[in-house]
Amino acid sequence: MSRTRIHNLSISLDGYVAGEVQSLETPMGHAGERLHEWMFATSFGARLVGAPTGSAGVDDAMARWHEPGIGAEIMGAGKFGPPGWQDDADWRGWWGSEPPFHTSVIVLTHRPRAPIEMAGGTTFHFLDASPAEALDVARRAAGGLDVRIGGGATVAREFIAAGLVDHIHLVQVPIVLGRGALLWDGLEGLEHSYDIDVVSTSSGVTHLTFTRRSSE
Ligand SMILES: NC(=O)c1ccc[n+]([C@@H]2O[C@H](COP(=O)([O-])OP(=O)(O)OC[C@H]3O[C@@H](n4cnc5c(N)ncnc54)[C@H](OP(=O)(O)O)[C@@H]3O)[C@@H](O)[C@H]2O)c1
Repeated sequence: MSRTRIHNLSISLDGYVAGEVQSLETPMGHAGERLHEWMFATSFGARLVGAPTGSAGVDDAMARWHEPGIGAEIMGAGKFGPPGWQDDADWRGWWGSEPPFHTSVIVLTHRPRAPIEMAGGTTFHFLDASPAEALDVARRAAGGLDVRIGGGATVAREFIAAGLVDHIHLVQVPIVLGRGALLWDGLEGLEHSYDIDVVSTSSGVTHLTFTRRSSE
């Protein structure tokens, strides 16, 4: 059975997954890279930023779950580009000519456009649909494999609120952002639907995994 998974979603102590204001120069707003420094320090994350090496400890092991068994990703318009990217016919995402997804990526947007095929097996498809409809499309594209919900905050929250997410891996980073894109709004009582495991590592972050209870 194809599952729906969130991985490496990095969150501040006060629940923000991005700061403000998001722009071409500041994709994560005033958070800068602070939410992802833990990951860029791992050998998994080093590859993403073109660094020669990274750590091989628990952070790296957790980060690597991002990829195995994933056949498609769903992301929001806010992750795909800075506000207003829909007005730029040439915008092809942040990730260069060979994005690190290597699968179909469904970009949820109220202003869809034609699909963009990239090098390395990534194709961006643009869709205006409910979370359940988008998941159907992604599952078909995933060919029986799992679907990753790539964020940002709004899309992760929509899918969690709709009861469509089986596994959530959050990485709590010990910073307080005070403003930005909040994950938890409207998700009161979420802990009743999931078994939650927690491990803190020497880098200072805390990994939380939420596994949906089988009766849910
Ligand atoms: N901390 C992390 O690990 C992490 C991970 C991923 C992303 N991020 C960051 O999170 C930020 C983006 O988060 P966000 O909450 O601002 O935006 P988001 O969740 O990426 O995208 C939200 C937008 O997607 C479109 N959308 C969402 N649901 C839709 C639906 N059902 N149908 C059609 N369109 C839909 C809407 O855009 P339109 O109305 O404009 O079309 C909506 O405003 C970025 O800064 C990104 O870098 C952080």
